[in-house]
Amino acid sequence: MAIVDEDIARVRQASDIVAVIGEHVSLRRVGMRWQGLCPFHAEKTPSFSVNQAEGLYYCFGCQARGDVITFVREVEHLDFVAAVEKLAGRAGISLRYTDEGESEGRRRKAALLDAVAKAVDWYHERLLRAPDAAKARGYLRSRGLDGDDVRRFRLGWAPDGWDELARALRLPDEVFVESGLGFLNRRNRQTDAFRGRVLFPIFDPQGRPVGFGGRILPGGEGPKYKNSPESAVYAKSKVLYGLHWVKSEIVAADEAIVCEGYTDVIGFAKAGLPRAVATCGTALTEDHVRLLRSFARRVVLAFDADAAGQSAADRFYAWERAHDLDVAVAALPAGVDPAELAMSDPAALRSAVETAVPFLGFRVNRALAAGDLSTAEGRARAAEAAMAVIAEHPNELVRDQYVMEVASRCRVDPERLRAGLGAPRRGKVVRVAGSHTTSPVWREGPELEALRLLIQHPDGMAPWLHESLFGDDLTLAAYRALRDAGSVREALEHTDPGAAELLQRLAVEESEAEVHDVAARLVEASSARALVDLQARARAAVDEEAFAALSREIAWLKLRIEELREAPSRVEAAEQLLAWLTDQPEEHE
Ligand code: UTP
Ligand code: MN
Repeated sequence: MAIVDEDIARVRQASDIVAVIGEHVSLRRVGMRWQGLCPFHAEKTPSFSVNQAEGLYYCFGCQARGDVITFVREVEHLDFVAAVEKLAGRAGISLRYTDEGESEGRRRKAALLDAVAKAVDWYHERLLRAPDAAKARGYLRSRGLDGDDVRRFRLGWAPDGWDELARALRLPDEVFVESGLGFLNRRNRQTDAFRGRVLFPIFDPQGRPVGFGGRILPGGEGPKYKNSPESAVYAKSKVLYGLHWVKSEIVAADEAIVCEGYTDVIGFAKAGLPRAVATCGTALTEDHVRLLRSFARRVVLAFDADAAGQSAADRFYAWERAHDLDVAVAALPAGVDPAELAMSDPAALRSAVETAVPFLGFRVNRALAAGDLSTAEGRARAAEAAMAVIAEHPNELVRDQYVMEVASRCRVDPERLRAGLGAPRRGKVVRVAGSHTTSPVWREGPELEALRLLIQHPDGMAPWLHESLFGDDLTLAAYRALRDAGSVREALEHTDPGAAELLQRLAVEESEAEVHDVAARLVEASSARALVDLQARARAAVDEEAFAALSREIAWLKLRIEELREAPSRVEAAEQLLAWLTDQPEEHE
């Protein structure tokens, strides 16, 4: 699994970050940096900046940042190894992998993936051509799916025999069983898992087939759907049916549709909404949500109205907060699922998605619609039902918006409704670990300017810098990291996340300041802090001698600070003060 460190470094070296990013973003040279529209958030004026020499990028709008590998990972939604492999391919570098144990696991997974892929092909051919698949083809046609759909979604037919797949593929027993394609019967003979079913192959987000959902034909025996079991390559909580086909459409629309079934996903695609995914016989998990959130900020639930109304509201509210996500609900006609609507009235399906309302709004509407708003008692009861739903929302401002709406629709005094809400119900809401991405605020000043120059002209700036010049923990950590490392990249690897983020930003900013000027301002700020310190100590001094010594030091310091402000004496005063500051015992933290 892991790639040899040295090879990762070679790939980084060989990949020109401007050329790689340039394939996705049109970059313009501005001074020593490159600028363009950020590919990670929607914007009209460029805030995405690249430092070619250091191989780093930073977005001032959304704080996306990283190096060439991070960029490929994020923009193409790959894991680290896949991103390095991709860049290695581009640069013509062949990679070496580490760790025997891990590569053993890798070989096993590769064998399972290979087996499932072969089964997909075999079942697919069978559906397209075999005489015994005629009934399945007829069934699919009756549901509005033609040969093109069958090919596009690689549907298959599992014949109604015991071991037809087993005999065709001749896989080793453990691969056959572990991939979920079949099991060993009592006489240890390979037996197919899917028999007499139409198969919907399930792909991982990278587009590799990992399992199947198998639908029985009408009149057949057994549950309507039989799904592949989990395996080393198929984790149901991490796979969404249909995702790999529509990744780029989801990114472009900044919206994903989540529905319940394989046929719904296909229906959405055919109705001109190719951005739907489905869980495969499980509930939506936080891993699913995180996966979707890496492509889009908005999720539209297209469940049957009852299912949507009953889905665990507090989980969705918690996810909205933890992942900065909007969850909306498409109002589908009762008892009709998206696959049916896609066939009978695709325009209605599109409009249901377009008019999707926020999750809480959807639930409030349902509560009100269930009541009788034509009578006084009916309105009072409907308001009560709606308030019960509103009370579950964790955000007071959001709750209040809906309180006013319910008050006006049920003609009740909003104050009475508010009183009924009482204190927010803490503890009822599931809290999900995670944090909002907030834009960090760094105070502009000589410390940031000095760090910029230290990145840009290390030789000119370094002699003027010392730990005592940095007044806060973050800039101090960033300075230490740069001082101790040979490059910005190395510094990033050895410092804490806050300082790393700061350094990434500074690395793409160009400073036009002059080294001596910045040094003087920095020394002045530090000296001013030291002066305050000395004055406090003088006030607190108990014996005359200590007081006199401190007073002399204060007088000397004031004089140097004066000189610092005059051009002719500036550089010399800065040098003297720097020496003095450097000599001070570490008293202030
Ligand atoms: P549905 O019963 O709504 O099926 O189950 P569907 O997708 O509409 O299928 P068609 O249109 O009738 O053919 C929704 C999803 O729940 C899972 C499947 O993933 C299915 O797509 N499911 C359903 C099962 O896993 N097992 C079952 O027996 C039924
Ligand atoms: Mn259905």
